[in-house]
Amino acid sequence: MDKPTVAQTSPYGVDVEEGKTYVWCACGQSQSQPFCDGSHNGTPFTPTNYKAEKTETVFFCGCKNTKNKPLCDGTHSTL
Ligand code: FES
Ligand code: FES
Repeated sequence: MDKPTVAQTSPYGVDVEEGKTYVWCACGQSQSQPFCDGSHNGTPFTPTNYKAEKTETVFFCGCKNTKNKPLCDGTHSTL
């Protein structure tokens, strides 16, 4: 398995808090999207940490194919 699972073909808007670190699911198998729940164990995937620079709404990639992990870069519209 070298391709991530598409969790959904659109981003997840999340209200993040300045200074907090969020752990984005890269494999697409987490049951608590868009964040890692450990389901990647046994796959080639590892999660990506995201440290919020400020309190704002951030769009995490749901399709897992972004080139700008962990954020949506619009790639989902090509899937
Ligand atoms: Fe997907 Fe951890 S569950 S990277
Ligand atoms: Fe993955 Fe937009 S949801 S690039």
